[in-house]
Amino acid sequence: MADTNKSIHGEWSSRFAFILAATGSAVGLGNIWKFPYITGEHGGGAFVIIYLLCVAAIGIPIMIAETMMGRRGRQSPINTLEVLTKEAGANTNWHYVGWLGVIAGFLILSYYSVIAGWSMAYVIKAFTGSFSGESAAHINSLFADLQASPVQQIFWHTVFMVATMAVVAHGVQGGLEKAVRFLMPGLFILLILLVAYAMTTGAYLQGLEFMFKPDFSEITGASVLTAMGHAFFTLSLGMGAIMVYGSYLPKDVSIAKTTIIIAGADTLVALLAGIAIFPIVFANGLEVGSGPGLIFQTLPIAFGNMAGGWLFGVLFFVLLVFAALSSAISLIEPAVAWCVENYNIERKKACVIMGGFTWTLGLGTVFSFNNWSGVTFFGATIFEALDYLTANLMLPLGGFFIAVFAGRIMLEKHSKEELDLSSDDLYAIWKFLVSYVAPAEVFIVFLHVLGVFGIFS
Ligand code: TRP
Repeated sequence: MADTNKSIHGEWSSRFAFILAATGSAVGLGNIWKFPYITGEHGGGAFVIIYLLCVAAIGIPIMIAETMMGRRGRQSPINTLEVLTKEAGANTNWHYVGWLGVIAGFLILSYYSVIAGWSMAYVIKAFTGSFSGESAAHINSLFADLQASPVQQIFWHTVFMVATMAVVAHGVQGGLEKAVRFLMPGLFILLILLVAYAMTTGAYLQGLEFMFKPDFSEITGASVLTAMGHAFFTLSLGMGAIMVYGSYLPKDVSIAKTTIIIAGADTLVALLAGIAIFPIVFANGLEVGSGPGLIFQTLPIAFGNMAGGWLFGVLFFVLLVFAALSSAISLIEPAVAWCVENYNIERKKACVIMGGFTWTLGLGTVFSFNNWSGVTFFGATIFEALDYLTANLMLPLGGFFIAVFAGRIMLEKHSKEELDLSSDDLYAIWKFLVSYVAPAEVFIVFLHVLGVFGIFS
């Protein structure tokens, strides 16, 4: 019930532990793998600006809403929504938003795990010195070979899924808190090092210009949708991951301040990744729009050519795998918590079932890069379709409903009490953003993509 003080799944040991866990969820492949390649595909600067605006105006208010709802409901997102609707005397259909989130979580994790698997394969490649002194062409062929091999990809996908479910089975609070404490600073230092290398490539300014000099003629409705979808993806919003983490948050923590720290750290990591990668792309005459292989085709060139590159390469891919792991667990935790609550089964058992299901779905992504590359939906491969469906449609839709719920369905008395902001003005700003601005933005972008505006023009 809403007035129960603790979740049956345990609590974070402190505010800092929550910051680490939520940052661990937010910072992942989205920042280092996805952000650079979609920025490349959508023309650079203008796309980055739209993404930053979406983080500020949609992402942060919704992140506050999710954390707040989780902490008040104290259960898995599906059950939290049920508790909160009862408390507000609203229609119980709201818990379907929780279901939408659980499904999105499975779908995202199914391909996330395959990409994390690539990162694991690259730990080995870095370790065995496959990059040292090699040309961009050779590095490209290493990536092409991996993509062409279902066996290698299935192997690493399996290793990653087992690791993820092992952490979740032990309860996300335990080991995670300790691991993320070293991981985040480590990743940060390595990114700074890569930026320093990028400065020596001779194309540093060209890279910066690509990322920060906006050319709005590059922007289409699809770019705006992708930027908005990515704001949800990178902050882990719209499917209940942050909500379930919020449900383990002790009562006395200030939600708004904490959220801004997490979103800030996440954005910084993404920008650093871009600043490191684009100069390498330009200096080696690579294609900015080359897609999901971008970091695997660029960073190894840096590691192959810089002093100490062997060590940094190994460290980088190890840290990337851990960053992916600390994100992956938050994708499945809402489903596992729900299973434990509703069926009273052991966490371990729930993990085996949910993990097995996700692993099987992941095979679709593996084969979409080779044997089934010809299987398409509206011109998109299985991987592309899953990515589009989840990041561009399901997350913004989930976020839309979460925003409306927090702003307009929950009683003001309750959200005010939970947020406990120092000033009423701040509360009013947040409430305006979640009630009107965020939902309206999602709605308008959706209409635009559906071509509704085209009909009138
Ligand atoms: N935010 C993570 C990343 O950028 C991915 C992720 C974890 C996620 N949990 C999520 C995305 C929940 C959407 C929803 O890599």
